[in-house]
This record gives sequence, C-alpha cells and structure tokens, in this order.
Amino acid sequence: MRILVTGGAGYVGSHVVWDLVAAGHEPVVIDNLSRGHAQAVPSGVSLLQIDLADKEALSDVFERFRPQAVMHFAGSSLVGESMKHPELYFRNNLSNGLQLLACMVEHKVDKMVFSSSAAVYGEPEEVPITEEHPKAPTSPYGESKLFFESMLRRFDYAYGLRSVSLRYFNAAGAHPSGRIGEDHTPETHLIPIILQTALGKREELSIFGTDYPTEDGTCIRDYVHVCDLSSAHILALQFLDDGGRSEVFNLGNGQGFSVQQILSVAEKVVGKPIPTRRAERRPGDPAVLVASAQKAIDVLGWRPSFTDIDRIVESAWNWHKNHPDGYGPRQ
Ligand SMILES: NC(=O)c1ccc[n+]([C@@H]2O[C@H](COP(=O)([O-])OP(=O)(O)OC[C@H]3O[C@@H](n4cnc5c(N)ncnc54)[C@H](O)[C@@H]3O)[C@@H](O)[C@H]2O)c1
Repeated sequence: MRILVTGGAGYVGSHVVWDLVAAGHEPVVIDNLSRGHAQAVPSGVSLLQIDLADKEALSDVFERFRPQAVMHFAGSSLVGESMKHPELYFRNNLSNGLQLLACMVEHKVDKMVFSSSAAVYGEPEEVPITEEHPKAPTSPYGESKLFFESMLRRFDYAYGLRSVSLRYFNAAGAHPSGRIGEDHTPETHLIPIILQTALGKREELSIFGTDYPTEDGTCIRDYVHVCDLSSAHILALQFLDDGGRSEVFNLGNGQGFSVQQILSVAEKVVGKPIPTRRAERRPGDPAVLVASAQKAIDVLGWRPSFTDIDRIVESAWNWHKNHPDGYGPRQ
C-alpha cells in the first residue's frame, strides 16, 4: 500500500517506516525535521522536508504520490513545553493536523493511523487503564491528542474517513538492527536519560519525586518497545484496509516499573552504577500509569514481543552505546 507517513523521520515514525518497507508497503515520509533526523529514514524511501502548515506543498504530495492511507506521527510532544507554550501545541497538533485531515478528504484518502497518547487520561482513577477510563488530560499536549481523536470521530461520521488512534504509553528501546534509535533534543524520556548518564553525557539522573505512594516512592510507568508499537501500526493499517471501523486502542505491556526499578535494570545492563540525585516532583506527573492493552490484543491480534523490561533496556543500550551522539549533527 502507498502510505504517507508524517513525522516519519522521528523516533517512532522511523521505526514504523523501516517495518513498512520490510512488509512490502511503499511509504513516503513528510517531516519538517524540526525534531527528526534525515538519517533515520531508510535510503530508497522519499523524505520530503515539508511542514504540515504548508497547505500547497501538502496538497502537492497528495496529488503526486496518491497515498492510500496516512500514518500521522508528526506533532509536538513535550508535556512540560506544552504547559508553557499551549499555542504551539494547539497550532501544530490541532490546526496542522486539521489541515492534513482536510487534505485527505479533498484527495479521497479514507484511512488514518494516528499517534495518540496515554496523556489523554490524565491522573488515573484506576489502573490498569482501559480505553473506557475517563479522559481528563492535565496538559495542552494531552488535550491536543484528545481533541484530535474527537476530530477523527467527526471526520468519520461526516466524510467516511476511518481511523485507528493508538494511545501509546512510554515508548522505549531501539530497532534490533542497531541502525535507528531514540535521539530527541531535548531528551525527556527516562531510559535514554539514564543511558546518556551511563555514557558520561550527563552528570547525573534527576529522580523527580521520591515520595509517591508507590513501593519505593518513585513513579511507575508502562514501557512498550518501539518495535511493538510499530507492529501495532501495521496491524491497524490492515484492520482499516479490511473495512474495520474507527477505533482507539491502548498500547502498553500492562506492567509497571518504577524509576528506581528501571535504574536498577539499566545498571545491570551497562554493568556499572549510575549517579542520581533526588529532585522535586514535577507538576502533573501521576504516580502510576499502566495500560490495559487487552483490546489491541483481542481486536488487532497484537502480540508484543518485548515483554521483558531487561530486553527493552538492552535494545536501547545497544543503540546508545554505539551512537553516543545519536544521529550526530542534523543533515
Ligand atoms: N515517544 C513516546 O513515548 C510517545 C508516547 C505517546 C505518544 N507519542 C506520540 O507519537 C508521535 C511520535 O512520537 P516520537 O517520540 O517519535 O516524536 P518525534 O518528535 O521523534 O517525532 C515527531 C516528528 O514529527 C516531525 N514534525 C513535528 N511537527 C511537524 C510539522 N508541523 N510538519 C512536519 N513534521 C513535523 C518532527 O520533526 C519529528 O520528526 C507524536 O505524535 C507523539 O506525540 C509518543
């Protein structure tokens, strides 16, 4: 299938692009490279440096490439930044996203797989979190994801554009080939920060909050391997192509690990202690976020293969130790 992949030079998108090629699909990537890396896109796949805000350029891609589906990863995704700059988040994740949807309708493209987030739930009332859990996002980032899901529902009703929204929990790890991995600037994700500290790229790991109501006092999260996210995207695409109706699915392992536990796993994997310091809690960080991904397992037939946290951290380490500076300078 010809698939337009927005944000395909980013962390999750690039892993999906590699797997789409391996599965015989024909992806074309559009990315403004604000956060992504040209080097993450496989050679042989067209990477068009386009901003979603550029309506003419976007429309031109639809005309020339005639995609049959869109996978939409592009967006701004830092919770803290969204608290300070909500305008940027609503503009990029909603206005630019709406422009993409309008372009799809205009060019009669009726299938989208969208990167949503666990941030749509906010502070959980109970865990594991199912898709029916109340949605009360605590940041403009989470709100932008939830509003976009609402737009998708309306676009299905009015224009027949069917979609699957995948609510990822914490994406982690790197491609087993060792060729692509996580390289965000700024990096806000725990596992890369721990591994960068192990590599001496950072002085210490700040542990935000050690007085949460968890066994060791640190926050608990559900880590899902980026290749398992990728396989879910390909299943979601198949689901829509088989005529499936619009759906939302959580993607997580259904198991929570505290910051302290991840640190211990990482110390075992890298073979040395990693310096830490205690820091204040960050506003809006729930104590525990753990997914129920039963619906994706039942409906999509999703079978995550990285269910062991040691293997997730090992795969991330394999990338970081061989790419201590990530992809290096932007091309
Ligand atoms: N990484 C996670 O743990 C996680 C968790 C939940 C949801 N998500 C969502 O998944 C998606 C991908 O996440 P990621 O970690 O790969 O992020 P990322 O920042 O690595 O990738 C996003 C890509 O989109 C591009 N982009 C941003 N705005 C654009 C625009 N206006 N036009 C064109 N390109 C644009 C960036 O250059 C980047 O390459 C995001 O939408 C994010 O909100 C990620």
